Amino acid sequence: MPSISKIRLEILSNLPVTHNCFRLELGGDGLPDFAPGQFVQLEVPGKYLRRPLSVHDADNERIVLIYKTVGEGTALLSQMVPGQALELLAPLGHGFTANACKDRTLLLGGGLGSAPLYLLARKLIAAGKQVNAVLCFNTAADVVLQDEYRALGVEPVIVTLDGSMGIKGMVTDAPLPEHDFFYTCGPLPMMRAVCKTLDTPGEASMEERMGCGAGFCYGCTIQTAGGPARVCADGPVFRKEDLLW
Ligand SMILES: Cc1cc2nc3c(=O)[nH]c(=O)nc-3n(C[C@H](O)[C@H](O)[C@H](O)COP(=O)(O)OP(=O)(O)OC[C@H]3O[C@@H](n4cnc5c(N)ncnc54)[C@H](O)[C@@H]3O)c2cc1C
Ligand code: FES
Repeated sequence: MPSISKIRLEILSNLPVTHNCFRLELGGDGLPDFAPGQFVQLEVPGKYLRRPLSVHDADNERIVLIYKTVGEGTALLSQMVPGQALELLAPLGHGFTANACKDRTLLLGGGLGSAPLYLLARKLIAAGKQVNAVLCFNTAADVVLQDEYRALGVEPVIVTLDGSMGIKGMVTDAPLPEHDFFYTCGPLPMMRAVCKTLDTPGEASMEERMGCGAGFCYGCTIQTAGGPARVCADGPVFRKEDLLW
């Protein structure tokens, strides 16, 4: 794994994409390569702990994060403007194993779990894999990234819990395309249902409250089939068979 760097970047844009989600684009020198599913620990001015956010997209010059305003830190972040600087730790964690899929991949996103799966989709398509995506949200107003997936050539199946857009129900209520490997990211109940319903192999990206984000404090430890594991350093992506629900 590449070493973790502390990087100072400038906000290029920080714009709402739904009623409670923002797209934050940061640019500058010294950006590392990011594997899909890796995350950063982003400084929020005035807050002691950094906030873990998944990488939605990245290249040599910029990184894009999609975040939901849920508490004080993300509310403060949403008020920041282009030209301001933010410090982050990156790259963090083990991302998705992109070469675990042979030919046909199924991506199953729940809410903003659809964000890190986008970078994975982009890399898999570049590697010549067939990619299908099923993205689940609470309601139509929460739907994000549909057009970004379309621009990659992936027409996502949209599922909403209240049926206000696409198929009504949970992600597992959608007719799931044939695949040889799946990748999922989203709320725990959704990923549990996915892992228990699908008999194909797959990986899930876990979420836990984090202190250091870099493997030192053990604050994010979960139990896995192989024993205790730190979500930040041993994950956040785990194989389906290693997860104890
Ligand atoms: C590996 C990882 C990747 C994530 N990627 C994204 C993403 O791409 N987009 C996104 O919107 N959110 C993501 N989250 C969740 C995000 O970190 C929290 O929503 C955010 O930290 C909330 O901060 P706050 O100050 O607004 O909330 P507060 O509730 O005020 O935060 C208080 C403390 O709890 C922590 N905390 C609160 N909720 C969570 C949570 N769900 N997970 C972990 N820590 C939490 C905060 O970091 C902070 O230290 C991710 C979490 C993890 C662990
Ligand atoms: S957050 Fe410190 S070890 Fe994971």
